[in-house]
Amino acid sequence: MAKYIVEHSGPLYGEVEISGAKNAALPILAATVLTDGICEINEVPRLKDIDVMCRILRSLGAKVEEDWEEHTITVDGSGIHISEVPYDLVKLMRASIFVMGPLLARLGKATIAQPGGCAIGDRPINLHAKGLRALGGRILISDDMVYANADSLTGALVYLDFPSVGATENIMMAAAVAKGTTIIENAAEEPEIVDLASFLNRMGAKIKGAGTDTIRIEGVEKLHGTRHAVIPDRIETGTFMVAAAITRGNVLIKNCLPDHVRPVIAKLIECGAVIQDELEGMRVRGDINKLVATDIKTLPYPGFPTDMQAPFMALLTTVSGSSTVIETVFENRFMHTAELSKMGANIRVEGKNAYVPGDKCPLEGTQVVSTDLRAGAALVLAGLVAKGTTEVSQIHHVERGYENFVEKMSGLGAKIRKVED
Ligand code: UD1
Repeated sequence: MAKYIVEHSGPLYGEVEISGAKNAALPILAATVLTDGICEINEVPRLKDIDVMCRILRSLGAKVEEDWEEHTITVDGSGIHISEVPYDLVKLMRASIFVMGPLLARLGKATIAQPGGCAIGDRPINLHAKGLRALGGRILISDDMVYANADSLTGALVYLDFPSVGATENIMMAAAVAKGTTIIENAAEEPEIVDLASFLNRMGAKIKGAGTDTIRIEGVEKLHGTRHAVIPDRIETGTFMVAAAITRGNVLIKNCLPDHVRPVIAKLIECGAVIQDELEGMRVRGDINKLVATDIKTLPYPGFPTDMQAPFMALLTTVSGSSTVIETVFENRFMHTAELSKMGANIRVEGKNAYVPGDKCPLEGTQVVSTDLRAGAALVLAGLVAKGTTEVSQIHHVERGYENFVEKMSGLGAKIRKVED
């Protein structure tokens, strides 16, 4: 198994270019199932999860070409005729469930292994099912499988009990070609939802309100192929912003949309970091002021993103004073606290709250485990400012979500390398 060896690195300096958003590219690729035309998707990050989605599309009968020089994937969906997603692919990635809505709409049926729970919580799919049932789908969820079928889909009013990102996306995709109008209330408002809606609209869908809590979808008979460039990754952006701050460095982040990371900007400023808009990107400086504690509460967008909770917590261990971090989106997203505490962070968890004492810089380098994708990034960030060497294992999680992570970090002066065990 591969691991990262991270050495104490000093301040990070230089420029980093952000990749396309994994969480936008995945549903957009799934949405290509809705058409028998050809879709060209640009700015796709080269990641394990994207590879799994391409394999899923091929398994359904699509022709998928990957051009990694151009970060472009072309999907010809004319041959899609298989409605069952192989278990060995679903088990690799929870986002496999994104093809359920499109398959139901295109072929009238979908069979997918239950993506099941994962390290950060139970992650049920009841809201996906609720929405697709409202459109006329028959959805049967067993312990290990999800079976969906429908004679036809008809627009409906769907109220989401929680603004689930994945459920909003699945329902929006199926509703795009349902008969009549669908309204999703209490919809997720994440930028990735807006990107998916704009892709679907380019395919001929009629979707309004994406990015607000009410999305209105007028179903159309048919969608056609199109071309679309994926938005920059706001979580990768946030991770490099925190990398600049935690190392007390000065980094220019290029190809990012500051509007998508407002809560991260606000919290970094509260800590004393300086953020400057420049022509080419956003500059983050942790080298001007003494950094101090702040509290964080994760929320659906536009609140503080749960995916930034772990990386930000790494920063909070190093600032002056103690902070409270409240996780409200996932039930079990504090696995990294134990790993950070192995490095001397001494974080105390009580239910949804984590108490971070601060003033722990330098942390102590040691052997830690990347329990999930963002936890792994947090441990690398902590390793950059820890004394000695930090060994981060289980880094396949990190590679699921950060394109060229080692290269990008090294380009800023981070002492990090990947070794095979
Ligand atoms: C997406 C992101 C993930 C991010 C999360 C929250 C992708 C590929 N992944 O995941 O990186 O952390 O949004 O911003 O885009 N829930 C239910 N029933 C459902 C669906 C969700 O109860 O049917 C609950 C979940 O258990 C969780 C909460 O809703 O507690 C948020 O989940 P959701 O917004 O659906 O996250 P994902 O789409 O899985």
